[in-house]
Amino acid sequence: MTKKVKVRVDRIIILVAILVAIIVGIIGITRDIKLKNSTAYKLEELGYSEKEVETIINNTKEKELQVILKRKYHKSIPELLKQKYLKFENLEKYLDYKNNHKNEKLKNVVSIVNVKADHEFYTNIEKTDISKNETMLVNKYYQLEKDYKPDDIKECSPMYAYEDNSLRNDAYNAFKELFNAAKREGYTIIINSSYRDYGWQEYLYNSYQTSSGEEYADSIAARPGHSEHQTGLAIDVATYDTPLAKFEETEAFTWMKENAHKYGFILRYPKGKEKITGYDYEPWHYRYVGKKIANDIFEKDITFDEYYEYYLK
Ligand code: DAL
Ligand code: ZN
Repeated sequence: MTKKVKVRVDRIIILVAILVAIIVGIIGITRDIKLKNSTAYKLEELGYSEKEVETIINNTKEKELQVILKRKYHKSIPELLKQKYLKFENLEKYLDYKNNHKNEKLKNVVSIVNVKADHEFYTNIEKTDISKNETMLVNKYYQLEKDYKPDDIKECSPMYAYEDNSLRNDAYNAFKELFNAAKREGYTIIINSSYRDYGWQEYLYNSYQTSSGEEYADSIAARPGHSEHQTGLAIDVATYDTPLAKFEETEAFTWMKENAHKYGFILRYPKGKEKITGYDYEPWHYRYVGKKIANDIFEKDITFDEYYEYYLK
């Protein structure tokens, strides 16, 4: 090879080497930009661990991810996103509540916020949507008009209830079905209290308040306009030989607990759900919501307040 040719070959090799270096550099920079633009990278930059990043990505939609990327790290977010009844629009409320109630489980935080119980009871009150018919919600945040009275109220026969009881037609027919089914098993379940108008509830609440104070009254009775009894869809039941307060100890109660949903009734104020329902456990109070929804609530094992906010509102 002549010296001239050798110089030319050397130059070509150098040129090729430079070109290769440039290409490799471009690929590297592009990859880096892509990585830095990736959600995973951004989440890690915010402070989430690899495992948390995976949880976040697997449990959010694109729009939701953008929201998480815009806010600072919170250690509860990944676990929160896994909660079955999470409503993403409530994210900041869940986090606020958790910050102020460090020991509350996230599952409960979601339930509490979903039913508005992160607000004081009897604040942030909305009107009950009575167009929802037998699935209308009445609680400490949803109120009925003073003059609301269902137009299909039927007086209950003494066969099923003590004196002065009445229910909406569908609820009454469903109760008769339930009554007969319980009777076949040897239990007589009798209605103690059912439809109560605003004035009656006011009298009842005021009596508790006068005798035992507001805190106690609020734990067992609704303020007027806030009682399910005004819907004509709620019943307090017991057996002939047991008062309401002892109903839980009866076999009839066990039967109700296991079967009421088949006839469209749900145990409305369950044990352990006081922060959600706003009331002490009431083993005697059942609410008619129709068979389909009662079955669904029974299977899901959630309160009607939660069910309404998540599925019906
Ligand atoms: N005892 C129930 C909560 C009511 O007063 O409606
Ligand atoms: Zn009741």
